[in-house]
Amino acid sequence: KSRPPLVWHWIPVFGSAAGYGQDPIQFFLDCREKYGNVFTFVLLGRRVTVALGPEGNNFIMGGKHTVMSAEDAYTHLTTPVFGKDVVYDCPNEMLMEQKKFVKFGLRLENFRAYVSMIEDEVIQFMNKDSSFRIFQMNDINEWGRFDVLDAVSEITILTASRTLQGREVREAINKNYAQVFADLDGGFTPLHWLFPNLPLPSYRKRDLAQKKMSDLYIDIIRKRREAGNTSDEVDMIASLCNQKYRNGKVLEDHEIAHIMIALLMAGQHTSSATGSWILLHLAQRPEIVEEVYQEQVKHFRNPDGTWRSMEYEDIRQLPVLDCVIRETLRMHPPIHSIMRKLRDDVVVPQTLASPSEDGSYVVPKGDMVLSSAAVSQVDPLLWRNSFEWDPSRWADPEGVAQQAFKQYDDENGAKVDFGFGLVSKGTESPYQPFGAGRHRCIGEQFAYLQLSTVVATLIRRVEIKLETDMPKPNYQTMITLPKKPRNICYRRREF
Ligand code: HEM
Repeated sequence: KSRPPLVWHWIPVFGSAAGYGQDPIQFFLDCREKYGNVFTFVLLGRRVTVALGPEGNNFIMGGKHTVMSAEDAYTHLTTPVFGKDVVYDCPNEMLMEQKKFVKFGLRLENFRAYVSMIEDEVIQFMNKDSSFRIFQMNDINEWGRFDVLDAVSEITILTASRTLQGREVREAINKNYAQVFADLDGGFTPLHWLFPNLPLPSYRKRDLAQKKMSDLYIDIIRKRREAGNTSDEVDMIASLCNQKYRNGKVLEDHEIAHIMIALLMAGQHTSSATGSWILLHLAQRPEIVEEVYQEQVKHFRNPDGTWRSMEYEDIRQLPVLDCVIRETLRMHPPIHSIMRKLRDDVVVPQTLASPSEDGSYVVPKGDMVLSSAAVSQVDPLLWRNSFEWDPSRWADPEGVAQQAFKQYDDENGAKVDFGFGLVSKGTESPYQPFGAGRHRCIGEQFAYLQLSTVVATLIRRVEIKLETDMPKPNYQTMITLPKKPRNICYRRREF
């Protein structure tokens, strides 16, 4: 049995950690040149087998969950942070049911209520002159500066807590929640994935914060129950209460609490990173900001210059903004590596890679397998001007985008779904910022709703520009964030 080619490295156990850690996209593209679509590299003693291209995405994202296990790949990172009995600390069938419960919370009538809440939070954030002082909206016509990631992270947690996380969490943010979140987040890093338990302060803080965070949610659930659950809350806690597994067992309080933590962690950095990259690219392209702004004017400005509030249905009809988000997710998918651990040997399809015409590679049980949509989304073989941020490539499903997929379409006849926030359904699509298959993201529509509303609310009120080069991506965090300096200049619009 042939194993896939092993990436050559100097230091035995360390392996390719430096190349992969510095810039995984370049590392994968370089390896593809030398070894083809499938190769194995050593990462601090672990064997990781990478499968690239749409077919590679399909091999892993469409692989059998009983063989390619997400829980075996992630649980040692996620369980100390989320808590027990949810997501990757339970059988996969239970996760599938938990995702169904969450989907129930992410329903249309809730989304309708969220738009004005998000808008309100962004306006409050811009106007407030208290702790953050990121925007000081009084200096009309003067240019100010803000660190985009700091600002968007703050806005993301404020808007997510006001909507999904619920009133009590939103209130707690003004108290000590921020520190607890920071400590928990400090335990969600590549180091913690590689070494689940080290005697270091970040691990102790993580464990304490998990307990505090879990208690906070359990307390909210109990208080609501004592009050008779009569409120008309539109948040996720309300949706999760009273949900039952197929075997009749109700979701217990600690399970609800831990799902809430998982959702917080799943949505916070992914949306903050995406919002930051969107604003950075817009700040570099005033003509596209103008298009986004004019789209807002067309849909929402009253004759007297005031703005009409957005409705969920309106947001779904803003093609310029939609293309901006979609294109940003193409170039900056927050998650660059999706991992599974093999519970059995797996044969690589010959059409993806093979040692010879009649041979096949076999990836051995125990290997991590890795899929990277971050590579297929900027692959020069698949996309026109693949490293250029060009929202217009998505503008016309019949034209530009089809050309963007030309080679791929020609060879595989793949279909791309151009619904709102739903481009990447198939496991073989080259465009998968939200993953694909069984573990696909269920937060996509919420993320589009949140990002659209935040960006629109900001762009209505400020002009933005970038005085520096586009920041480089930092691949050493779990989520690909822009490195410093990442200041955006802004100036308040007339009205
Ligand atoms: C799964 C990306 C926002 C909840 C995933 C996966 C990706 C992803 C790539 C697949 C992971 C894998 O296969 O290993 C994103 C991006 C987001 C985003 C780019 C924002 C721009 C959210 C939000 C929520 C959320 C806001 C919750 C409200 C989840 C859940 C899963 C998931 C529950 C399923 C995990 C599984 O089945 O194993 N996301 N996500 N995500 N995401 Fe998101």
